[in-house]
Amino acid sequence: MRAMGLRGNGGVEVLEELELPEPVPTAGQVVVRVAFAGVNFAEIQHRRGEFGAPDGPGGVDVPGLEVAGTIEALGPGVSELSVGEPVAAYLPAFGGYAELVTADTRFVRSLRTGAGEVDPAAAAGLPCVWPTAFGLLRDAGRLREGEDILIHSAAGGVGSAALQLTRELGAGRVYGTVGSAEKIPYAAELGYDQVFLREGFAQRLTEVTGGRGVDLVLDPVGGPVRERSLSVLAPFGRAVAYGDLGRHKQWTASVWDLWKGNRTIAGFNIGDLARRAPERIGDYLSEALELLAAGGIRPGVTQILPLAEAAKAHELLETGAARGKILLSLT
Ligand SMILES: NC(=O)c1ccc[n+]([C@@H]2O[C@H](COP(=O)([O-])OP(=O)(O)OC[C@H]3O[C@@H](n4cnc5c(N)ncnc54)[C@H](OP(=O)(O)O)[C@@H]3O)[C@@H](O)[C@H]2O)c1
Repeated sequence: MRAMGLRGNGGVEVLEELELPEPVPTAGQVVVRVAFAGVNFAEIQHRRGEFGAPDGPGGVDVPGLEVAGTIEALGPGVSELSVGEPVAAYLPAFGGYAELVTADTRFVRSLRTGAGEVDPAAAAGLPCVWPTAFGLLRDAGRLREGEDILIHSAAGGVGSAALQLTRELGAGRVYGTVGSAEKIPYAAELGYDQVFLREGFAQRLTEVTGGRGVDLVLDPVGGPVRERSLSVLAPFGRAVAYGDLGRHKQWTASVWDLWKGNRTIAGFNIGDLARRAPERIGDYLSEALELLAAGGIRPGVTQILPLAEAAKAHELLETGAARGKILLSLT
């Protein structure tokens, strides 16, 4: 089968098109014939070596955390899905940049929902991004109706999904930050109440909220942005750390300052959830697919590139030029 893999870590040049053996499902797994694979920032971290050197069969890793396609084969004991069924799958062990991938059925959901059938091109960007958005807002962020939120990296895959979900969950005002001025009009059109340039955001947010700040901040950037995010929390506000886009050194907050300022820092990690509460990811994926089928949310796909152009997709995310969700097409 055709795949885009890595034999070593580094820049986009380490991504190479390869012919690999077809996967065989074990108990509790299915093989998915991939139609579209979502591109995530974590795959850039994978390529750079932030998760370790490639250690797949033959020393090759295939990135890719989320796909949509059809079931090609069932592993022993799998009866809840059938061959030919259209599905979306979250892949905690990667592998999505390929024609075929094995997926654990706990993270696979049918595209035939109670509200209708979802198109695979609309579903492929959901399986990692939307359980993350649900986990950030409902679980780590403890969002309550009417609360105000700041979303950093507001125009990206997770950021734009989280914005849509804040509306579903009845949030109050939703603010966003982006890394460059050119992105502000695009992000504003997504439906934020106001979008700021990340540089100087704390001062602008403090001004527009009359000094109150917000109840919740979603922060995948880290470093000084995380530190300043604490300064814009209203009493009992929460800042959720879930990424390190800025590749900052480990930053430590003072419990004394949190205590004295009625502030909370929470964390979210989907990989940990996959190991310790896998059913939650499947439930959130089902909920997102139902919402999509019912027209309650949009897939947010801005570009579909052929698998051979995976390097271009990585460049767009890594340079901050990407908007919304980018997919790779395997068809
Ligand atoms: N913890 C979890 O379980 C989990 C799950 C999914 C995703 N994530 C994290 O969520 C974040 C977003 O992921 P995504 O896949 O949706 O990517 P994305 O937001 O669609 O794309 C990445 C965006 O990050 C920003 N960026 C890139 N390099 C940066 C830098 N050096 N400093 C600051 N910002 C930079 C750019 O936007 P702007 O600069 O314009 O904002 C870029 O467009 C990533 O940090 C990812 O690791 C975490």
